[in-house]
Amino acid sequence: MSEAHESSERPQKRYFVGITGASGVVYGVRLAQALAELGHRVDVSISDAGERVLAIEHDLRRPAGASDARWIVGSEAAPRVRLLDNRSIEAGPASGTYPLAAAAICPCSMGTLGRIASGYSSCLIERVADVQLKEGRSLVLVPRETPLSRIHLDHLNRLAWAGATIAPAMPAFYTRPRSIEELIDHLVAKVMDAMGVPHELVRRWGMPKSEHHGRRPPNLPTDPGPRPDLEPEDRHDLGEGCDA
Ligand SMILES: Cc1cc2nc3c(=O)[nH]c(=O)nc-3n(C[C@H](O)[C@H](O)[C@H](O)COP(=O)(O)O)c2cc1C
Repeated sequence: MSEAHESSERPQKRYFVGITGASGVVYGVRLAQALAELGHRVDVSISDAGERVLAIEHDLRRPAGASDARWIVGSEAAPRVRLLDNRSIEAGPASGTYPLAAAAICPCSMGTLGRIASGYSSCLIERVADVQLKEGRSLVLVPRETPLSRIHLDHLNRLAWAGATIAPAMPAFYTRPRSIEELIDHLVAKVMDAMGVPHELVRRWGMPKSEHHGRRPPNLPTDPGPRPDLEPEDRHDLGEGCDA
């Protein structure tokens, strides 16, 4: 972590990032990294489906007995990132008294979205979302699905009505991205804006080029490599079931 990022220019805050089983788990990983790079404390929780998608999309798997976040955010960001078990409903962020500045569920599956919209609170990620809404604090949801059913749209509308910011995982091309990493950072920058986090992750429209523009996640390969899980006989199942 560079000295600039370690400096006390910005007050250190606490943020929560929930990673669920929608496509685009890399957004959540990059969000946690970016918040840590800014010197903030980040609590990360991953749903079981989120861990499966991390393995499918990035070959990232939690090593047996891993107690820190290095395997997911890399060794540079790990000291500021705490990985919380999604079953830990007793963890700090599950309480309204915990001083969370903002929370993001990134990406947010339609399953998690529906459960938050119904107030289920059946795991830490859902509970944190519920707490942020009841406390009137920042909750940013990053849904990813296409097409959207009326049920999805109803849940999104309900959650926006309840106070959440809906920031869909929709890549933008007006910045003329030169790489997938730039597309990822653009979305993550929008999420941090919605969380109220000052940052210089990307160049802002109409503003001079930022020195941080184009930094890529340290532990995520640019080339995802061969796709052993997408052999021809599997394609049909994945395509129909998950819109993967
Ligand atoms: C490779 C893969 C991609 C998926 N992509 C999505 C997606 O983009 N959106 C979504 O809502 N569900 C997606 N799913 C399905 C969810 O993972 C599934 O509904 C899961 O139960 C969600 O659980 P969670 O909300 O606890 O994370 C995907 C599943 C897989 C295996």
